[in-house]
Amino acid sequence: MKKIIVTIDGPAGAGKSTTARRVAERLGYIYIDTGAMYRAVTLAALRQGTAMTDHELGELATATEIQMEPGFNGQTVVMNGEDVTKAIRQADVTSNVSQVSTFPSVRRALVLRQRAMGFNGGVVMDGRDIGSVVFPNAQVKVFLVADPEERIRRRLAEALDRGDEIDAEQVRNQIMGRDKLDSERADSPLVKPDGATEIDTTRLTIDDQVEQILAMVHSYQKTYDLVSKYGNF
Ligand code: DC
Repeated sequence: MKKIIVTIDGPAGAGKSTTARRVAERLGYIYIDTGAMYRAVTLAALRQGTAMTDHELGELATATEIQMEPGFNGQTVVMNGEDVTKAIRQADVTSNVSQVSTFPSVRRALVLRQRAMGFNGGVVMDGRDIGSVVFPNAQVKVFLVADPEERIRRRLAEALDRGDEIDAEQVRNQIMGRDKLDSERADSPLVKPDGATEIDTTRLTIDDQVEQILAMVHSYQKTYDLVSKYGNF
């Protein structure tokens, strides 16, 4: 079967990471959470007290080694040799990551690596600009959306599960603030990529979402196989 690239974009809480991870598992593909890369750079910047300028953050992003390794419980993120899987989900990283992600030099450094990671296909990559900027020619492009109230409910449940001390109002402010920064920034804002299929997950189960995306992948592969065998028809 042809190994393809599947992109999944959308706002926080739309269900990207759970869906992308399951789709990758079912296809035997690698799952790449690009938000984790922006979070790792943000963590490094907070720890080192890096000035929030394009130049300084760009240099930091280029110098920071980030490895994503498939683990037992999702993906392990290693930054400069240290396991930062938990640290990148901390509240201070979450509240600064959208700001750090607005800087073009940071984006250029990370987009370059994301393109290299997906070069051979066989990846499911999620983020905000994967189908629009990183892989505009990906074979299957998905845009996940959900009602804001549902996204807040999901993010609150996740935070409480982790043991964070946070309430619904704080999660609402965080999500609204990040939505605004992510979709209004000048460089690669969150948009529905050209040619992407929009899936509203408000009332869908994860299984439904996964099956819809797998059906798109299989449809692509079936036609690809026919064309490879018999030429265009
Ligand atoms: O998916 P997430 O919540 O972990 O993403 C964290 C932030 O990273 C998000 O608010 C914006 C930024 N991001 C981005 O700008 N581009 C991406 N491809 C992925 C994430």
